[in-house]
Amino acid sequence: MTHHSPPERNTHQIWNERYLLGNTPWDTGITPPELYELVESGQLRPPGVTLDLGCGTGTNVNFLARLGFTAIGVDLAWRAVAMARYKAWVAGLPPLFFVGDVAHLPLAGIQASFALDMGCLHSLSGEQRQRYVHSLASLMRCDGLYMLYGFDQAPEAGHDDRGFAPDEIAARFAPHFEMLWQRPSMQGDHPVAWYLLQRR
Ligand SMILES: C[S@@+](CC[C@H](N)C(=O)[O-])C[C@H]1O[C@@H](n2cnc3c(N)ncnc32)[C@H](O)[C@@H]1O
Repeated sequence: MTHHSPPERNTHQIWNERYLLGNTPWDTGITPPELYELVESGQLRPPGVTLDLGCGTGTNVNFLARLGFTAIGVDLAWRAVAMARYKAWVAGLPPLFFVGDVAHLPLAGIQASFALDMGCLHSLSGEQRQRYVHSLASLMRCDGLYMLYGFDQAPEAGHDDRGFAPDEIAARFAPHFEMLWQRPSMQGDHPVAWYLLQRR
């Protein structure tokens, strides 16, 4: 019998509480230059389906919908999803948002041409990360692009510390994705990295 352990029981409560209290420093409402660059380079062109994993209040889903993509956003926190839907409604945009766990995506039959993850994968456990990679690979069309952003994990970090090292990303995604580039960067005094991968 296969046994799927659910995400830590109160993970969604923790994220919901952060949205309730406005303790969401990542929620800038700004689409990052890295995503603009991808569009401007011509590598990412509508039409097509896009996925934003851990989409928060939907800034980048709305950006992609505005470009003409069928843009889908998923987040564990219903408060974030409610805010995302409201922002899309105010902007007159038609993206789709749903509450869900990126390690168990309740989607089938989608062949996304682009997926984005800004700050979600890096907070998952190793087991969740593994399921996430399989789930994402099954939802992306061949040649589809996947842009990832997350905290670096220092080599001396403990088991429970979040973040990921470039080697981990290369190894986890290698069976399904080719690494196109990775760019180390800094967020304040915290090392972070951007990655662009392509579904084989
Ligand atoms: C740091 S925030 C980034 C949000 C958004 N990507 C942005 O840049 O504004 C991480 C987001 O991932 C969501 N999240 C965390 N674990 C998740 C999971 N297992 N499935 C879906 N979303 C999750 C949180 O609710 C939160 O909205």
